[in-house]
Amino acid sequence: MNKIPVIIDCDPGHDDAIALITALASDRLDVLGITAAAGNQTVDKTEKNARKILEICARTDIPVAKGRTAPLLQSLHVARDIHGESGMDGPVLPEPTFEPAKEPAEELIARLVEECETPVTLIITGTCTNIAVFLLAYPHLHRKIARISLMGGGAFLGNRTPLAEFNIWADPEAARIVMDSQIPLEVYGLDVTHKALIYQEEFELFRKEEGAIFQLVAGLLDFFSASYLNERKMNGGPIHDACAVMGVIYPELFTYRETHISVELESRESRGALTMDLRPKEKREKQANGKIALDVDRDKFLQLLLESCKILTAERRKKGYDS
Ligand code: BDR
Ligand code: CA
Repeated sequence: MNKIPVIIDCDPGHDDAIALITALASDRLDVLGITAAAGNQTVDKTEKNARKILEICARTDIPVAKGRTAPLLQSLHVARDIHGESGMDGPVLPEPTFEPAKEPAEELIARLVEECETPVTLIITGTCTNIAVFLLAYPHLHRKIARISLMGGGAFLGNRTPLAEFNIWADPEAARIVMDSQIPLEVYGLDVTHKALIYQEEFELFRKEEGAIFQLVAGLLDFFSASYLNERKMNGGPIHDACAVMGVIYPELFTYRETHISVELESRESRGALTMDLRPKEKREKQANGKIALDVDRDKFLQLLLESCKILTAERRKKGYDS
C-alpha cells in the first residue's frame, strides 16, 4: 500500500506530542516534515519540543522548521495554564542533537510539497497561522494539497470562550483562510476530542510498560490531566491532537458529518467559533467543503495509542537507542 505523505504543523504541547508519536509509528504515513506554530507556547519553545519528540522517537531524519512568532492580526496568547512554561511541562527530555531547518515553516512546506510526487495531506494540531501563510504565499501549490486535517473548534462548543476553542481562538483570521481555501477539510473539534479521553486509571497501561516512549506518554498524561482537572474539571486527558492524525490513518474510527465549515470573525461573543450547518442536507444553503468528526471509538483509539508506543519502542531498540 502506498503511504500517505503528510506534513504536520503543531505546537507541542502534550497532546501534540502524542499525535506525533501516533504519526511516526504508522506504516501508512510518510511524515515529510514538521513545522512548529506559536500557540501552546512561543514558537521557540514549541519548535524545540518538536525536535525533542523526534529525538526520543529516533526520527532525527525528519526536518523541523520554525513558524511565525505571532498570529496574523492579533497578539499572541499562549496556553501556559494547560501546558506549562515549556509548553510540554512534566517529563524531562534530552536536548535535541540536531538543528532546525534553515528555512521558515512556509518555505519548508512549499519545498516538500513541490518535491512530493503525489498530493500531500496537511495535518494541523495548533493555530492555523503557518498554513494560512503558506496558502497565501503559494497559491499555485493548493492543487498539490490533498486535504487538510485539523484539530480545532467544535460544533457550537468552545474551551477558551463558550463558543471558541483554543486553536481557532488564538488566530481566527488564519483559521478562516484555511477553512475558506476550498481544499477538502477534516475537522476534529471538541465534540469528538473530549471523547478521545484517557482516564486516570488507564495511565498505568502506559506506565507499566518498559521503554522511553511509554514512560514519556505516561509523564505527558500526568501533567496534562492535572491541568485538565484544575482548569476544566475533567477527569483524565483528552488527546485532542491525536484525533487529527488518527483520522487520516483510521477514518473508520470516527463518525463524520459533511457540511460547510468556516469561522466567525465579526461578532464579539462568538469570534473564533466554527460555523457549520448540521441540518438535513436538503435544508442547507452552502455546499459542503469538508466534514466534522462528532464521535470516536474510544476503546480502539486507546488500543492504537498503546500500539503506537509499542512500535516506536521496538524501532528505538532496533536502532540501538536502548542498548
Ligand atoms: C487544543 O489546544 C491546545 O492546548 C491543544 O494542544 C490542542 O491542540 C485543544 O483546545
Ligand atoms: Ca496543539
